[in-house]
Amino acid sequence: MISIRGADDGPVCNAVPMAEQERWQVSGSAAQKYERFVASWFEPWAADLVTEAGLKPGWRVLDLACGTGIVTRAAAPIIGARGEIVASDLNEGMLFEAQQHPVEGAPVRWRVADATELPFATGEFDGVFCQQGLQFIPDRDAAVGEMYRVLRPGGVAAVSVWSELENNPYLAALAGGLERHLSAEAGRSMAAPCGFGDPDELRDLFVNAGFSEVVVSSPQRDRDPTPAMEAIAGNLAALPIAAQVEAMPAIDRSAMLDDIISTLGTSIKDGQLTTPATSNVAIAIA
Ligand SMILES: C[S@@+](CC[C@H](N)C(=O)[O-])C[C@H]1O[C@@H](n2cnc3c(N)ncnc32)[C@H](O)[C@@H]1O
Repeated sequence: MISIRGADDGPVCNAVPMAEQERWQVSGSAAQKYERFVASWFEPWAADLVTEAGLKPGWRVLDLACGTGIVTRAAAPIIGARGEIVASDLNEGMLFEAQQHPVEGAPVRWRVADATELPFATGEFDGVFCQQGLQFIPDRDAAVGEMYRVLRPGGVAAVSVWSELENNPYLAALAGGLERHLSAEAGRSMAAPCGFGDPDELRDLFVNAGFSEVVVSSPQRDRDPTPAMEAIAGNLAALPIAAQVEAMPAIDRSAMLDDIISTLGTSIKDGQLTTPATSNVAIAIA
């Protein structure tokens, strides 16, 4: 794990104080588990984001906070061999896992980078993606400012963040279960993906950074049916707090899983999870 600026390192303009776990920094085998249990959930969202960005063959694209490369794998076949993707993330473990999976189409360069201080030239990219990453960055103004800087005039940023917890019953059920059976801090960490869920705040961020056209939508999508117990246990093993979940006494962990399943109620049918989720998506032209 590389070292990053901490919330107590001193003042940062417009930064939101965040606990380390709320910055979604995983360790150990969590990146592998993320790819195994979260990728199938995120892939249809990535396909939609790529479509909405109006990606063109030959484009040079940055996938910011790329994680295990879900958006990169969706974008590469459209961009093709004449284009290029630079896929960057703060977390070396996520980048290592990303490189274990083939990417068809565009060549990819994987790069460790903090989204608030990008090691890329001004105007270098035709498109920037950031799927489910911006909410974990304390200084979001700096991150969106960097997106604007590295895009060419007319380039497009396509960014998604989950809507509020009340619009995301699956994440709410996990957060509630962790809070009741592990700790308040664990519950807060699980709620962090929905911690920047106001679409107006998302729009303001892009307008204030100087983007000329900003469209924010709030699509809802049902998760493709997936075995519930495996998805929930796998998701918990892919969290920044996975080690704490793993260390719970078996009886407590089992009670937590029962509680989560009962909270999800009719989202589970015949053992298959099909819960809806809502994201806020910004498509912004530099
Ligand atoms: C929930 S994952 C999403 C990953 C990927 N975009 C996807 O769609 O699966 C959030 C990612 O944001 C990354 N991240 C958090 N803070 C970051 C920062 N300041 N700069 C770059 N990446 C960051 C994490 O390391 C993690 O890989």
